Amino acid sequence: MQTILIANANLVNEGSSRPADVFIKNGRIEKISSSLTNQPADTVIDAQGKALLPGMIDCHVHCREPGLEQKADLHSETRAAVAGGVTSIMEMPNTSPAAVTNEILEQKFALAATKCVTNYSFHLGASNHNLGELLAMDPKTVCGVKLFMGASTGNLLVDRFQALEEIFGKVEVPVSVHCEDTNTIRKNEQAAREKFGENIPFSEHPNIRSEEACYQSTALAVELATKHAAQMHVLHLTTARELELFKPGSAESKKITVEACPHHLWFSADDYETKGALIKCNPAIKTAADRAALRKALINNVIDTVGTDHAPHLWEEKQKPYGSAPSGLPVIQSALVSLLEFLPVETVAEKTAHNPARIFKTLGRGFIREGYWADLVLIDTETPHTVSKENIEYKCAWSPFEGTTFKSSIAATLVNGKLACMDGQVNDTVRGQRLLFNR
Ligand code: DOR
Ligand code: ZN
Repeated sequence: MQTILIANANLVNEGSSRPADVFIKNGRIEKISSSLTNQPADTVIDAQGKALLPGMIDCHVHCREPGLEQKADLHSETRAAVAGGVTSIMEMPNTSPAAVTNEILEQKFALAATKCVTNYSFHLGASNHNLGELLAMDPKTVCGVKLFMGASTGNLLVDRFQALEEIFGKVEVPVSVHCEDTNTIRKNEQAAREKFGENIPFSEHPNIRSEEACYQSTALAVELATKHAAQMHVLHLTTARELELFKPGSAESKKITVEACPHHLWFSADDYETKGALIKCNPAIKTAADRAALRKALINNVIDTVGTDHAPHLWEEKQKPYGSAPSGLPVIQSALVSLLEFLPVETVAEKTAHNPARIFKTLGRGFIREGYWADLVLIDTETPHTVSKENIEYKCAWSPFEGTTFKSSIAATLVNGKLACMDGQVNDTVRGQRLLFNR
């Protein structure tokens, strides 16, 4: 096994930044010290002027495999992931077939072992009738359960109240929840159709997938999780109003934690005028005031993690009118660099690596510590880059950030001590590992 020395880095970890060298052996971080320059190594990376962070653990990714490989697959999207500094993914169950049994889930794991450049785990999808499967899941080798409390892409809605009670009452792994009230959305959509006919403008999306729809569903989820003392992770929060439902605090101290997504933190509802279907997603992007509140809530520790909700769809599908253009957008490759535009680098490490590791209890990952796996991202904060067709790795070959210049670039990404990406070149012979959980 190759040894690697990362020399002269600005090591960003657990709330502080300091100059350090990191020596990697057998895939793990063997030594961290202020000077390891006498340490022989097969490869030496000069990290002068660059920030070294734990690789992003992205708890919210859609890779579309199996069944929807025309849009994306586990190999293509994990290539994009390492190009963006993501070293582990937790993938979502709205594939085809939907991952609602442990048998289907294990088939996804088997595919991932041959295809994923990152480390990986897969959420088991909750349905109205699969409690037995959820309870049979192995908490040490599967990340958690995904629960759609609002209809979105796919047909994984849980709308039977008794099923919700049982899920929150009995499941012991983290339950990641999509909150949007489907009845409210249907009513709003109907009203928009009466007003606009079949030509609903994309700018109506935040009025249809409204603040009220989010609030109602999120309030119910918080009520149920609190009642049952369940561990719940609320996905993609979009409104200032919903923030009132959560308390600030460290991720370890909370049973209910909250995620924000790069696109809700970057765009605002005004952007629907120009970007249209490209930023149509569920929940919708809300107002600039909501975006400001989300950014503040990351600093105040009301929001605990950033997950990407990377959700690729084909360019041709996104050319359709409002009613038929699918929701979701590819973001994983630009997520980390976009966060660095408005968050301190220590906060970025906290929200993208430490807190995901704490919430899901990933074994040996999420921190730069001796003995931990060398899942690392080296960021050049002084070299800007512009997102363009030439550097997009997604199978769908487009990005909502095309034309955007970010101040930073990903210099290198290491997965289990292997260089999975260097200077924009992905080494796609690298294969990640199945994530394990300390539960
Ligand atoms: O915008 C979205 N896209 N929201 C979801 O809940 C699902 C996702 C997808 O899978 O396309
Ligand atoms: Zn999602």
